[in-house]
Amino acid sequence: MILALLCSSAATHASTPIYLNDSCAIEERVSDALSRMTTAEKIAIIHAQSKFSSPGVQRLGIPGIWCTDGPHGIRPDVLWDEWDQAGATNDSCVAFPALTCLAATWNPEMSAIYGRSIGEEARYRNKNVLLGPGVNINRTPLNGRNFEYMGEDPYLTSRMVVPYIKGVQENGVAACVKHYALNNQEQNRTRVNVLVDDRTLHEIYLPGFKAAVTEGGAWAIMPGYNKYNGDHACENATLLLDILKGDWQFDGAAISDWGAVHNTEKVAQNGLDMEFGSWTNGLDWGTSNAYDNYYLAKPYQQLIVDGILPMSDLDDKASRVLRLIMRTEMNRNRPYGSLNSDAHYEAARKIATEGIVLLKNNNILPIARTTGKILVVGENAIKMMTVGGGSSSLKVQREILPLDGIRAKASSRGIDVAYQRGYVGDVTGEYNGVTTGQDLNDSRNAEQLIADATTAAKDADIVIFIGGLNKSGHQDSEGSDRKDFNLPYDQDRLIKALAEANPNTIVVNLTGNAYAMPWIDNVAAAIQGWYIGSEAGNAIADILFGDVNPSGKLPFTFARSLTDYAAHATSDSTMYPGTNGDVIYKEGIDVGYRYTDRLKPSRVNFAFGHGLSYTTFSLGKARLSAPDFDGNGSLTITVPVTNTGHIDGSEVIQVYVRDVKSTIRRPYKELKAFRKVPVAPGQTTDVTLSLDKSAFAFYDPSTAMWTVEPGKFEILVGNASDNITSTLPLNISAPMSWKDSELQ
Ligand code: BGC
Repeated sequence: MILALLCSSAATHASTPIYLNDSCAIEERVSDALSRMTTAEKIAIIHAQSKFSSPGVQRLGIPGIWCTDGPHGIRPDVLWDEWDQAGATNDSCVAFPALTCLAATWNPEMSAIYGRSIGEEARYRNKNVLLGPGVNINRTPLNGRNFEYMGEDPYLTSRMVVPYIKGVQENGVAACVKHYALNNQEQNRTRVNVLVDDRTLHEIYLPGFKAAVTEGGAWAIMPGYNKYNGDHACENATLLLDILKGDWQFDGAAISDWGAVHNTEKVAQNGLDMEFGSWTNGLDWGTSNAYDNYYLAKPYQQLIVDGILPMSDLDDKASRVLRLIMRTEMNRNRPYGSLNSDAHYEAARKIATEGIVLLKNNNILPIARTTGKILVVGENAIKMMTVGGGSSSLKVQREILPLDGIRAKASSRGIDVAYQRGYVGDVTGEYNGVTTGQDLNDSRNAEQLIADATTAAKDADIVIFIGGLNKSGHQDSEGSDRKDFNLPYDQDRLIKALAEANPNTIVVNLTGNAYAMPWIDNVAAAIQGWYIGSEAGNAIADILFGDVNPSGKLPFTFARSLTDYAAHATSDSTMYPGTNGDVIYKEGIDVGYRYTDRLKPSRVNFAFGHGLSYTTFSLGKARLSAPDFDGNGSLTITVPVTNTGHIDGSEVIQVYVRDVKSTIRRPYKELKAFRKVPVAPGQTTDVTLSLDKSAFAFYDPSTAMWTVEPGKFEILVGNASDNITSTLPLNISAPMSWKDSELQ
């Protein structure tokens, strides 16, 4: 209050208007700026003026907004009105690992480093809104965009997204969390209407967004392309007004996905603040000055001038945009950022090595120094993966390919490395005018490729197969879903042939999704390598040769077949990909391990939370701080973790909760706490984790409240969802219930 008075009087007596005085409170600056703006100026700042920018108010010296994708690196600059490259020579970046890999670190400190680093790159490039991170839940492994998200679990996603956002925003760059909400498939993404029950919406699909807003303090959010209950996300009053701006008290700007707006009245009244990417390119599509014809441009202005729509909604939108500008571009205290720094490459490599998951190891890894000859097989060993996949495609300053990383490390140890292609997948390497410059053409047919690879395999001590998916259409890519759960390009046949030719075959798959593994029993080791960006080759080599001890854990279930996922269990097309425009989430809360742990544990190759190490850990008996809990404060769980092997390593302690008896069907178990801890060989560390009342709650749609029923619960402690080492009984002694809005 004192500050506000000082600011007001300072403004009265000084020539500096309040909105320009950054020692004044932002709210005062926002209302001062708004009070000076004309209707046309308010309209101007709530929609795009180019592919990625919106104007400020030139007359008042208020700058505009520059957005950039996101979420794995800073996208190269495109032309004003087109997706084609601007041809800049200073817009190469560091590619950080995909968000699936970040989630697989199970280490919020890695999220903080990631957010800070990518925020610095955005800031240096003078972008003030980063279009990311993505927190949509992995409902189906066919979703082409899962690689941009953080897995199948709402709790893991929530814990990992918060530090990312804070790290980005420390730089005076807004994180724009996407794609709010229920954007869980790419097929038919702009039209699909999601029908989901309220409980599932709140328990599975919203927590990542809620944490981003209420804990991460995200300054922006991106409603997606899909519909929910008949209305597009950008025009959805339930999602935007009731939940986001009502229950969660979001004070930032809701920025449409590119081209996701369809109707002026709805979008004006239902809570969207900014419109980007509508049907025009500003040039030859639509009419001249087409940005003026955006739904939130002249058509909206006319409805206000005619008195059909109220000025109050426009004032709210313009205020939110002004707040976004004050928090970013008009924050004179923000740092300057940095681009392609050594620290960013180090961060990328550290996150990558912490996120790579060792799935299986028959004592063949790490690769022994005595190894004579390694054969590397597979297209993904030589293919740049940072180009492609849609809007997250990048123009990198450098990308170490897996084969090069392996060669460099092997040669320093005197180990020979040979290479065979094994399969030809997609030889193209271009996205929006960025080209890899690689010529990956190979005229051999599949039989010849397999024959050549297996012949060479017989001659090697170890075979490292590097394959998986890629960033082409119908793989891990925006705009389309996968068509098949199996690996493409005959890789299953190739891997089997390699394993037959050489029992020391190690499979390293680079994907953003789970896939079938019909060869898993035949291979000596398997690694889930994700898409890991600029430092891919170095990170993979660090793990293979044991310079880094793996500690990643799966952020989603690797089931045996597609029908082992609830959304596909009955091959019901109304559940996926949808019929007549609707997709019905009939499986409800049974997403990922919530389904497989209860009904199909034997149908899982690698469970949620699984990941091996080169050392071994033993988890001692866990203890609970009290056998009863009434909801006040928190409960503490302590578990002794011993490194029983010979090298340093980190283990992720995972705490799941089970409601033993409840009036409604609860998940068999739900992740509610986790902690990654380093433990030296021979040492035991007591790891403590805590749970508060939210760990025991379900969302009751009849009251719209989070509800805890008293009675018996179990606390399950382990190092994977399928490896529980302690089960602790707990009695909840009092009923509890609360609304999201009460937690603000
Ligand atoms: C994507 C968004 C992206 C935007 C801008 C859209 O097609 O869905 O994630 O941020 O384009 O490139």
